[in-house]
Amino acid sequence: MAPVKAMGAVPAAFAAPGPLVIGGRPAAEWAAEGDTPLFVYDLGMVAARAAALRAALPGVDIHYAIKANPLPAMVAAVAPWFDGLDVASDGELAIALGAKPAAAISFAGPGKRVEELEAAIRAGATINLESVGEADRALAAGGRLGITPRLAVRVNPDFELRGSGMKMGGRASPFGIDVDEAPGVVRRLRAAGADWRGWHIFAGSQSLDSAAIIETQAATIALAARLSDQVGAAPPLVNLGGGFGIPYFAGDRAIDLPAIGDALASALAARPAILAPSRFAIELGRYIVGECGVYLTRVIERKVSRGETFLVVDGGLHHQLAASGNFGTVVKRNYPVAVATAAAEAPTETVSVVGCLCTPLDRLADRVTLPVAAPGDLIAVFMAGAYGLSASPSGFLGHRLPAELLAYATRS
Ligand SMILES: Cc1ncc(COP(=O)(O)O)c(C=O)c1O
Repeated sequence: MAPVKAMGAVPAAFAAPGPLVIGGRPAAEWAAEGDTPLFVYDLGMVAARAAALRAALPGVDIHYAIKANPLPAMVAAVAPWFDGLDVASDGELAIALGAKPAAAISFAGPGKRVEELEAAIRAGATINLESVGEADRALAAGGRLGITPRLAVRVNPDFELRGSGMKMGGRASPFGIDVDEAPGVVRRLRAAGADWRGWHIFAGSQSLDSAAIIETQAATIALAARLSDQVGAAPPLVNLGGGFGIPYFAGDRAIDLPAIGDALASALAARPAILAPSRFAIELGRYIVGECGVYLTRVIERKVSRGETFLVVDGGLHHQLAASGNFGTVVKRNYPVAVATAAAEAPTETVSVVGCLCTPLDRLADRVTLPVAAPGDLIAVFMAGAYGLSASPSGFLGHRLPAELLAYATRS
């Protein structure tokens, strides 16, 4: 008999025994409204996250990186709780402009097309420049349009965020301008009459190591000060990046947000003189929306093969690639899953939850212990609020798109 594998912890908001409730409504009701498979996002949880960030990081701007979940209705609903929106394409720019004034929007990402630079300049959004060539193209676009472009320089830092799932510093990189070149680029932007908005320094993503986040934020402030000294001007804004991770897998522990906030407050209080007038921001995606989302998919079939039980569901990796272990992970580990329709005292068994795609990659949970489920039952895959549908190959095999529903109930 194959061994049982562990799975991540179900987020506390969804962990009550018995049938799953999302935003005050049973999962079965959501499934009846949206058909299956579908995503439900509990905005009360996002509001609670926003409030926790505000409490821990007073005086620091908080930006939502909408790549984590660009659903327009979601962006519009949560935008008022944040100071800025970060976008990664002209499509995301259009969504963000529907939710926030352009002055609160920044546009990062390598390989921006000239039309994208022009769209951002026309709208008045800040472009985080990723290369010397992009600085030239943005200046030229501003000149052509007769509009002073709002430009910040993304720096490729000379350090990385330890423990991060995705490292974006301390190495050769397509992201940001190398530390040695960055001050010269800013001097050129200023000389050309651009509106220099400051620095963007993003060293990594998905770190659960609070000490590493604290260390990286201190290093980022020091780097911003050093570069600003070389420019001879204070940056209006220093975007300190983010990298706050969330616990997806067994053994993962949540970050210590109050400790990070306290350390950042101390580092900012002691910041070098050149940064005295600057504002500071952090830029977060999954920490804001990752835990609020649940992917609900219905069991089509219970199948036993060579002694192993498979629950075949009507969803799969085409909507929730990350849960299948095929989005940026080397070893497949189980996201938290549950039988959303199970009674509290249901007996348990070991099963694999497999999607409806004709590929062995389509496994949403591998040999986990779950209450006994039958065709018609709903399976919930948690941690589905960030990098879910928009980061999955939804066109693969031509299945229908899932609904994405918002739960507005606030929780105490
Ligand atoms: C520039 C930038 N900002 C924000 C993010 C969002 O990261 P996360 O969702 O882990 O907070 C990323 C992730 O890759 C990024 O590259």
